[in-house]
Amino acid sequence: MCGIVGYIGNREASGILLDGLHRLEYRGYDSAGLAVVDGKQIKRVRVQGKVAALASKLKQEPLSGSSGIAHTRWATHGAPSEANAHPHCDDKGRVYVVHNGIVENYAPLKQELQQEGHVFSSETDTEVIAHLISKFLDENTPLELAVKKVLKLIKGTYALLVIAVAEPGKIVAARQSSPLRLGVGQDEFIIASDASAIANYTKQLITLGDGEVAVITRAGYTISELHGEVDLDKDIEEIDWNLDEAGKGDFPHYMLKEIFEQPEAIKNSLRGRLLVEDGQAVLGGLRQVEDRLRKIKRLHLIACGTAYHAALVGEYMLEEYANVPTEVCVASEFRYRKAILDPETEAVLVISQSGETADTLAAVKEAKEKGLLTLGIVNVVGSSIAQATEAGIYNHVGPEIGVASTKAFTSQLTVLALLTLFLGRQRNMSLVIGKRIAEELKALPLKIEKILAGSQLISQLAKKYVRVNNFYYVGRKYNYPIALEGALKLKEISYIHAEGAPAGELKHGPLAMIDSNFPALFIIPQDSVYEKNVSNLEEVRTRGAKLLAIATAGDNRLAGLADEVLYIPKTLEMLTPILSVVPLQLLAYQLAISLDRDVDKPRNLAKSVTVE
Ligand code: G6P
Repeated sequence: MCGIVGYIGNREASGILLDGLHRLEYRGYDSAGLAVVDGKQIKRVRVQGKVAALASKLKQEPLSGSSGIAHTRWATHGAPSEANAHPHCDDKGRVYVVHNGIVENYAPLKQELQQEGHVFSSETDTEVIAHLISKFLDENTPLELAVKKVLKLIKGTYALLVIAVAEPGKIVAARQSSPLRLGVGQDEFIIASDASAIANYTKQLITLGDGEVAVITRAGYTISELHGEVDLDKDIEEIDWNLDEAGKGDFPHYMLKEIFEQPEAIKNSLRGRLLVEDGQAVLGGLRQVEDRLRKIKRLHLIACGTAYHAALVGEYMLEEYANVPTEVCVASEFRYRKAILDPETEAVLVISQSGETADTLAAVKEAKEKGLLTLGIVNVVGSSIAQATEAGIYNHVGPEIGVASTKAFTSQLTVLALLTLFLGRQRNMSLVIGKRIAEELKALPLKIEKILAGSQLISQLAKKYVRVNNFYYVGRKYNYPIALEGALKLKEISYIHAEGAPAGELKHGPLAMIDSNFPALFIIPQDSVYEKNVSNLEEVRTRGAKLLAIATAGDNRLAGLADEVLYIPKTLEMLTPILSVVPLQLLAYQLAISLDRDVDKPRNLAKSVTVE
């Protein structure tokens, strides 16, 4: 996690760096800092806390200079504090470093440096990098060579920006597993963890690859491999979204904006991909592997967090409609499991909004090692997972900034439905069923708009339940993963304890917790398991719990059974999760707001989890 940004050009650096940090703050926000080259000196300002605190401190202690580096942190080694905030420097103040990632072998390196007399001023793993570069830097060793020497010594992951007093007109950048993109402007360069920190200044981007090192001066840049000397000829890409998409617009929070963007986001995910009359999905990103997919006898869906919940829904879709045996695994477990995989007949499909989640990326590498076809459903174009997988489908929902994933989730479900259609029609799915799914997919955006139009009701409901400390979320079949996702949303941003449970499991434990202060929220659309769910709801009601329900519009029976009912329009059973999750996102948001939580930056969490 952590966000890093660097600038070199002819303008004052600190404002541009600060703007970049604001845009990267979703990546981590427990401390922040920047260092600017001022003539022959480097000056640094750091704070514990958010970027806003750094901005106030900079008003008191302005920094002047036209190049510099900056960082917003999500702590791994060393508690959030000013001393542990980046940029870090060596004890002689010669070299300054910002780093996203983990130096796994920092302890022995630190010990060695201490024995040589180096004095450390933080508990971070990053500080060893600054000391080591300073140690190697001399008249015969330019900064980039000193950096390369150090990178050969360290193990782990990094996106790194380095500046040195001895070479004030230069930034050296390097990447291994953590994202880094270079914006190429008119006589200026911005290098950052993601494009949102760059897009204000230039749309021309280069994505640094793993094991690549860039040297950036005002005159230009060169990129070479860590173990090579030849300059690489990297392609420049054009960013295809504008910064308005990454701004909050008139919404008080990114999360609310992203919830309301869902109808448009789903349209974008579906655009050009549905042939309704043929009951077909056109997935250009899978064209090159289409024939291999016909032979697939088992799919492994792998993901983390919210994307994992999307995978669980995908399992129901793919097995029921595409006839493809499917297994779902949390990425952090998959990489350490001894999965029995057959490269001839099985494939791995990872799902990741950011395309940078360390465990998911590692799962791709593991699957490739085993010779499996690897596919991805990814939102961020050009991200590490998008590059590492052989083929895939982009979500095309634009940047998602709120830490709690919303529009990416409903898009992931939409794309999984498209994939179900695609694989199903390759197999036994009839034209009639294919057409039905396609028609219902097309109708989703309007149905979500209807749910959003009722958001006022949910804010009233939140006021009623704001003093509750625990919630059960309950669902069955397609909506069991939505129970998990609803509970996760609530926990993430309101810090109210919530658990998701399959309806049939209530009597195997959860019922023991139920009382009048422990409400249960049932996701209970009129689907193939409706009657079973109603029986489970009755069991909870009998035990005195307050009951909330997400039900199909027009279901009057539930109005008589539950204390509160939120209605969603009718759709095909397999698509109900795309609708039923929306009121749950709004409920979590409204409860969090009532409790005065920072919904876009919940405590202890970060959007892009680039550490194990
Ligand atoms: C973090 C985010 C979640 C997200 C998960 C997986 O925990 O806070 O919202 O679902 O990472 O992220 P990915 O980018 O791989 O979908």
